[in-house]
Amino acid sequence: TYVIAQPCVDIKDRACVTECPVDCIYEGARTLYINPAECVDCHACEPVCPVEAIFHEDDLPRHWAHYLAVNAEYFDEAASPSRARRDAVGDHPAVEALPPQSG
Ligand code: F3S
Ligand code: F3S
Repeated sequence: TYVIAQPCVDIKDRACVTECPVDCIYEGARTLYINPAECVDCHACEPVCPVEAIFHEDDLPRHWAHYLAVNAEYFDEAASPSRARRDAVGDHPAVEALPPQSG
């Protein structure tokens, strides 16, 4: 799967969304998330992100390695039963905890 990492936070350019042929990129409050159950590794999203936030899971920089779980867990309703993760509300707790990201 491909993964959206920290550079997207508070930027949300959304160029990736229009490129994805399977519509597996979902919007949260401060960042977007790729659903690993739906991503077909087509790679279309990665080159269009102006802040280079998107990586194949095998190419994630080490300091953002946890974003593989951040993206996956956003869609894991068992991990957050109180929130409908597909409704473009809220964020993964690891993203919620970040201070404001300035470009
Ligand atoms: Fe974010 Fe880049 Fe997409 S900033 S919304 S990952 S184009
Ligand atoms: Fe879509 Fe990017 Fe995966 S364009 S199918 S999220 S590689």
